[in-house]
Amino acid sequence: METSAPLCVIILAAGKGTRMKSARAKVLHEVFYRPMLHHVLDSVAPLEAEKTIVIVGHQKEAVASIVEGWEVICCEQKEQQGTGHAVLSARPLLADFPGTIMIVNGDAPLLQGEHLQQMIAAHRASAARLTIMTTTLADPTNYGRVISDRSGAVQAIVEEKDADEQQRAIQEINAGIYSADAGFLFDALARVTTDNAQGEMYLTDIVGIGVADGLVINKFEHPHPAHVLGVNSRVELAQAQRELSGRRNHELLARGVAMLDPLTTSIGPGVTIGTGCCLGAAVTILGQSTIGDNCVIDPGVYIDNAQIGNGVKVGANSVVLNHRVDDGVRIAPLSLLDGSANAQHKNEEQP
Ligand code: UD1
Ligand code: MG
Repeated sequence: METSAPLCVIILAAGKGTRMKSARAKVLHEVFYRPMLHHVLDSVAPLEAEKTIVIVGHQKEAVASIVEGWEVICCEQKEQQGTGHAVLSARPLLADFPGTIMIVNGDAPLLQGEHLQQMIAAHRASAARLTIMTTTLADPTNYGRVISDRSGAVQAIVEEKDADEQQRAIQEINAGIYSADAGFLFDALARVTTDNAQGEMYLTDIVGIGVADGLVINKFEHPHPAHVLGVNSRVELAQAQRELSGRRNHELLARGVAMLDPLTTSIGPGVTIGTGCCLGAAVTILGQSTIGDNCVIDPGVYIDNAQIGNGVKVGANSVVLNHRVDDGVRIAPLSLLDGSANAQHKNEEQP
């Protein structure tokens, strides 16, 4: 089909995130030291879309402020009446847009750009008006289930709250990522109702509408089920943190940084570590810290925004904050080195 049709991306980020049990809008929550929404923006960046629209609503000023500096347009969804309603809010910005629209849930921080690119390529190479991303999970609880016919062709998506027992047993789930031809998308959305358990306009209903119209609807099966995680609660937020931390550690291990216990080691995205370093268990290094070559960081060390030279040994359970450490220095265990402007003052206040 049209392999070079223009592309727009819509990111759904207007929801409150009730299940987080938090005063903050869900997409503002930090995962791996950055707001959840930044991870999603990173995953869509390689798509080089003509327009990237972020749907904002709940705490819209705060959400808009964290996307300042990104090449995106914020679009308000005045009331949060569901994912279908959220996409409809962007219609005025996409009037007469002739291309492909990719919709991405704003609570999916583990996605990677390459899989979104593969999905768009598959969509464009097919006759489908809509392609939905799916995957198969051992525990599909809370996700929309993908209903297919005997040949495997998708028929509908049914939300957990609307599903019967048989449907709930289906393990293929909707990842919340869609590629649609713009004309079909807005035509189908205009026909979505709120006749469901949550009284919302479900974006997922466009699948059944397309099928009823006799259109081709395809699936793109994500090869890595862990990447489609939708963060609805703090349990999933912690799961996302673990996955992103694991990816970062994997990258550092591959570059030759030794870690005695990667599962308890957390190295923030802004940190650089030289060659020949060895990190003990439960080490945390954050902020814009730099660690030179051939350093030994003993277990339980916490480092934030520090510059550590070459050949330094940091003794167990030490804390190094906003501090520069010269080459070859040996820091005793249980040391506190705090170079923050008000560090002395803070220490004096302690009982
Ligand atoms: C949604 C899908 C479900 C899928 C799952 C994948 C629907 C109806 N269900 O469920 O099939 O398996 O994602 O993770 O789409 N949002 C708005 N405005 C609204 C409501 C939501 O912008 O009015 C945003 C939220 O901020 C969030 C995203 O849309 O980023 C998804 O909403 P959420 O409530 O998390 O949907 P799920 O119940 O997870
Ligand atoms: Mg969700």
